[in-house]
Amino acid sequence: MEVPAPLPLSGAHSGQDFILFVKDDQAWAVSRTCTHLGCRINYLEDKEWIECPCHQSRFTREGRCIAGPAEEDLPTFPVRIVTGADNLVSAYIVEM
Ligand code: FES
Repeated sequence: MEVPAPLPLSGAHSGQDFILFVKDDQAWAVSRTCTHLGCRINYLEDKEWIECPCHQSRFTREGRCIAGPAEEDLPTFPVRIVTGADNLVSAYIVEM
């Protein structure tokens, strides 16, 4: 999945099945499928964590589980950073 740069100031972009994060020159993506029972999780910008609407499991931006009932971290997807001729980032490719 290709996400055009730049991302919003939050440094996050929610796709259908992933959340892409960009910080400094790093980019990574985590699955949006909760590791508890599979609900679609959301990034809460003001709290800077990911939360499941079903039973409120929480995960860090890196996908680490910090509050249950989920016990497993979120799967992550590699992200390829695409730069244009001007050497600026033009897009992020989430490899799912
Ligand atoms: S399905 Fe996400 S916490 Fe239960």
